[in-house]
Amino acid sequence: MPVDTVLYNAKLYVEGRILEGGLAVDNGKIVRIAKEANLPSATRRVDLRRLLVLPGIIDAHVHLRDQLRSPDEDFYTGTSAAVAGGITTVLDMPNNIPVTMSAASLRKRMQLAEPSILADVGFFSAFPENIEAIDEVVKEGAIAFKLYLTEQIGGLNIDDDKLLSQAFKKAGELDVPVAVHAEDRRMVEDAVEAERKQGKNDVKAYLRAHSPEVEAEAVGRILGVAYDSNAHIHFCHISSKKSIILIHNARNKGLRVSCEATPHHLLLSNEKLRKLGTLALTDPPFRNDNIRNELWDAVKEAKIDIVASDHAPHLMAHKVALSVWNMKPGVPGLETMLSLLLTKVNEGQLTLGEVVRLTAEKPAEIFQLRGRGFLKEGYIANLTVVDMHQQSRVDPSQFYSKAKYSPFEGWSLKGLPVRTFINGCQVMKEGEIVADYGTGRILRKESPT
Ligand code: DOR
Ligand code: ZN
Ligand code: ZN
Repeated sequence: MPVDTVLYNAKLYVEGRILEGGLAVDNGKIVRIAKEANLPSATRRVDLRRLLVLPGIIDAHVHLRDQLRSPDEDFYTGTSAAVAGGITTVLDMPNNIPVTMSAASLRKRMQLAEPSILADVGFFSAFPENIEAIDEVVKEGAIAFKLYLTEQIGGLNIDDDKLLSQAFKKAGELDVPVAVHAEDRRMVEDAVEAERKQGKNDVKAYLRAHSPEVEAEAVGRILGVAYDSNAHIHFCHISSKKSIILIHNARNKGLRVSCEATPHHLLLSNEKLRKLGTLALTDPPFRNDNIRNELWDAVKEAKIDIVASDHAPHLMAHKVALSVWNMKPGVPGLETMLSLLLTKVNEGQLTLGEVVRLTAEKPAEIFQLRGRGFLKEGYIANLTVVDMHQQSRVDPSQFYSKAKYSPFEGWSLKGLPVRTFINGCQVMKEGEIVADYGTGRILRKESPT
């Protein structure tokens, strides 16, 4: 029996080496990686013309919105943006309307997503009010929990360390990671109030209120609470050296802890915000060049585990406001993340191995996404095919995302995803979506075996 598809005349990134040959796919899985002569016969043969095949890229921090936030983004536009950017699996955040925070709200979200998605999607949940209900949410298939510390999203009182500790213990028992947006609520609120009192409402005031210190304070607090639990704590969009040192020390003491950086924190500094204004504001905001360089050092020393986009689309009307306190922080990132990183490979700042580790191997490991993150026989046939030589210019008007703006607008990039395969099916070819919605699958946390 011939297999479904053979991709031939390719270069393949297999465990740190680039092999010349091809790959056979059957039933959505990789069944053979071999020299051309050793590939099985196939119903469909695709000539990859010596392009490079990477393991399907995973973006562990995405706000797909939909439901009552569909004007910002929906499952179809968000996953279209993902596959256009070479991303095959996304993990969706719970700050939706309604908030994802119970088995019922998670089930509803999965049902809505399933027929619409082009990429594979796993879901974060916020914590439910009742700690006992954490079991049900996990049984329903939540990949991880997300804890916001700037404001309460979900049922858990974020000011109560005892409750946080109970929730972490439960997550540890069930072996579900907890991702944290670390900024101390009281410090931010006090700072915002002080700025407002002085009539300050510009980008600079926002930067002062969301300082690196409020991040480090929250990181320190959460690490303290996490010590007597077995939970894996993952810190989202880390943006200061102090936080990285705290996380690294905790890891050395045996705590299960990891952290993430975004392309915008690595590549943009707050100098740029003067020109771009509120359109480019994110929370946490971009830092100065010193801090940015320290983040790069941490990437190179593998103290930062993953890079994720924090794709956070908003209506343009919510991005431009006279007062910074009325604007919504966040920028889209799915369609620029991989090309930006590949550009850094071409410039010699990153190795291809680092990119694959940060955006495929490590996210698969941290979020326990079995069968993902590597090109391996038996693994899911999610593939990101890139042309390392192709140049492009960031043009947000061409985004599939509903958010047609970017802090990277006009940047010249070298290295582009040119084909994306999801579960063995080609969904993107040279920037065009070539599959129907529903090609992606919902990921559910697998019960321990
Ligand atoms: O910039 C951000 N945007 N930071 C957050 O924490 C939330 C996110 C969003 O949902 O828009
Ligand atoms: Zn966040
Ligand atoms: Zn986010």
